[in-house]
Amino acid sequence: MKALLTGGTGFIGSHTAVALLEAGNEVMLYDNLYNSSERVVGAIEEITGKKPGFMKGDIRDEARMKECFTTFKPDLVIHFAGLKAVGESVAKPLEYYDNNVGGTLAMLRAMRETGCRRLIFSSSATVYDLHNPSPYIEGMPVTHATSPYGETKIQIETILRDLAKAESDWSFVNLRYFNPIGAHPSGLIGEDPNGIPNNLVPYVARVAHGRLPFVRVFGGDYPTRDGTGVRDYIHVMDLAEGHAAAANYCLTHKGEIPINLGTGRGSSVLDIIHAYEKACGHEIPYKIMDRRAGDLPSFFASADRAKSLLGWTAKRGLEEMCRDSWNFEQHLAGKSA
Ligand code: NAD
Ligand code: UFG
Repeated sequence: MKALLTGGTGFIGSHTAVALLEAGNEVMLYDNLYNSSERVVGAIEEITGKKPGFMKGDIRDEARMKECFTTFKPDLVIHFAGLKAVGESVAKPLEYYDNNVGGTLAMLRAMRETGCRRLIFSSSATVYDLHNPSPYIEGMPVTHATSPYGETKIQIETILRDLAKAESDWSFVNLRYFNPIGAHPSGLIGEDPNGIPNNLVPYVARVAHGRLPFVRVFGGDYPTRDGTGVRDYIHVMDLAEGHAAAANYCLTHKGEIPINLGTGRGSSVLDIIHAYEKACGHEIPYKIMDRRAGDLPSFFASADRAKSLLGWTAKRGLEEMCRDSWNFEQHLAGKSA
């Protein structure tokens, strides 16, 4: 199979490229490098012994996308490219709608003109209505999101659903990710956000390494087991393997379907801190602070549909997620020393 990965040099794209190459597929990465580096292409080759194709380009550039489709001739697209910072999307809605929704429309036009009709989309648990109880099940209402970022995911899912209804030869799988963390066990690829990390695990990694003084635990009075927020953390390599399973499904089914990629288990902020302490071998300082605006107390996935339709379940636990994150953090430190 030939897979075109938009946003392929990013965090989830690069790990998915590894999983696809290791399963014997051909891969082309298409990325404007806004939030990643071309160095990732070499790292993927070092891990797999196979070189992925790379084309620098923006998904909003329809002509460039068409060039990519006509030269590479993919069987399907895995569409990771997009902006993803929830807080930034509130401050810059136009940029988010333009890049995520506008970019997807341009890409779909290029697909239609060049005859590619299969797409896996990086959606998010953020599409679920706030009032849904966990576990989140794919049939639950999706009405509106709490940020422009989340709204772009809902709008793109709607566009894909409408297109599948209007033209019966399309195949779309909307993968709703929960909280991807960790890194490839080689430590050669992982998540390295610029500036102070917004997400929990990259923040904990920097505290563990002494680059930040303590973890700010946002809220200790939620109605959860230990009072801290609960999420469904999933190892990025499990997520990557979920894409390989979804690709096989997409090749053999038509229409549009949402599928959760999560473990089905919730872990608290303190669970993560303690698992990370085991991984790094020392105590991690933290302080309980006020709740972060917009956060939900707890949510996690139902992983049943992924199991029944894709034959996929997440295999790795918190221990491996934190071990591989810590290993990557040490590789980063080695590089910058
Ligand atoms: P990432 O920022 O590491 O990767 C996204 C990649 O897309 C980057 O390499 C960036 O340079 C590229 N890109 C952005 N706009 C582009 C454009 N217009 N044209 C071409 N390339 C462009 O993010 P990630 O964590 O790998 O996320 C991948 C996808 O998964 C995103 O769509 C994100 O919204 C979604 N997602 C991520 C999470 C998460 O927690 N990481 C959770 C749910 C959904
Ligand atoms: N948290 C802290 N301290 C921090 C950062 C986070 O206590 O420094 C807590 C949060 O309050 C929350 C949990 O850790 O309880 C996880 O927070 P993250 O920011 O890591 O992740 P979110 O669940 O808020 O959001 C992530 C992505 C979204 C996506 C969502 C669901 O950032 O894009 O998962 O997929 F929509």
